[in-house]
Amino acid sequence: MSGFKGRDVISILDFTRSELEELFEYTDIIATRGVQSKPLEGKIMALAFFEPSTRTRMSFESAMKRLGGDTIGFTSEEATSIAKGESFIDTIRMLDSYSDIIVVRHKYDGAAKLAAEIAENPVINAGDGKQHHPTQAMLDLYTIRTVEGAIDGLTIGVLGDLKYGRAASSFILALTHYKPKKVYLISPPQLKPRREVIDIIREKGLPYKEEEKIEEVISEIDILYVTRIQKERFPDPEEYEKVKGSYKVTLDLIQRKAKKTIKILHPLPKTEEIDPRIDETQHATYYKQAKLGTPLRQALILKILQ
Ligand code: NCD
Repeated sequence: MSGFKGRDVISILDFTRSELEELFEYTDIIATRGVQSKPLEGKIMALAFFEPSTRTRMSFESAMKRLGGDTIGFTSEEATSIAKGESFIDTIRMLDSYSDIIVVRHKYDGAAKLAAEIAENPVINAGDGKQHHPTQAMLDLYTIRTVEGAIDGLTIGVLGDLKYGRAASSFILALTHYKPKKVYLISPPQLKPRREVIDIIREKGLPYKEEEKIEEVISEIDILYVTRIQKERFPDPEEYEKVKGSYKVTLDLIQRKAKKTIKILHPLPKTEEIDPRIDETQHATYYKQAKLGTPLRQALILKILQ
């Protein structure tokens, strides 16, 4: 456990494969047996959500409370003194003195890293701009490991907004810790992964290929990770209009062309990119994925705080 104690969680690249495996084994225990006592009684988690969230925030909150701890925090910038002109740095400093661990979500790239530099207590990045969402990536890997038994050897497709999506970027970076057979990065040309992400996966030797159409590669895929277009991150609304509705996973496509065993993941919230009829099929793995977020975050918080 020593490797996790007191640690900040900023990027999935900060963790090694063996640390991730250690976390997943601990998550298995919590997911099956739960926790008996209240190991974090008296501890406080600050939830500093400067940007909207439902699942991530509530699963952190649920995880902390299930461990016997408590939470304080806010769910939007408007609800804080930032609206009165207080700086981000002062807000983090205050929260650091009121709590034992801070979870930060912010629209700006690098916000969590800055918070970690200011705070003495550990900081967990719950999403910074278009960059990182490490606990989502941990959860994504854990879900695949749970449903497939392993990540190595699989053909994985990542479909959607690979440019502005931090969940997609973090998931792609997370795969560099493993040995998938092939990773297809599928997006319209305007939403291709950013240069810095491609540079890293190339350097790490991830066997990837960029594609524009899901139809071309669907028959090979074991795990399809779908993401929504990050409308709120487009600097220009016209740019968004051009790509809106440019990809969709239909039930027909899955039934006609995909492997019978294909599993579909999505960090949620989903909008129109997945045919809702898929929700009722054995392929839909996103609800299970969301559910596993609590034990995964319980395991992580315990490892950091205990
Ligand atoms: C994601 C996020 O906020 O980056 N949501 C989440 O945390 N599950 C993905 C998204 O908003 O599309």
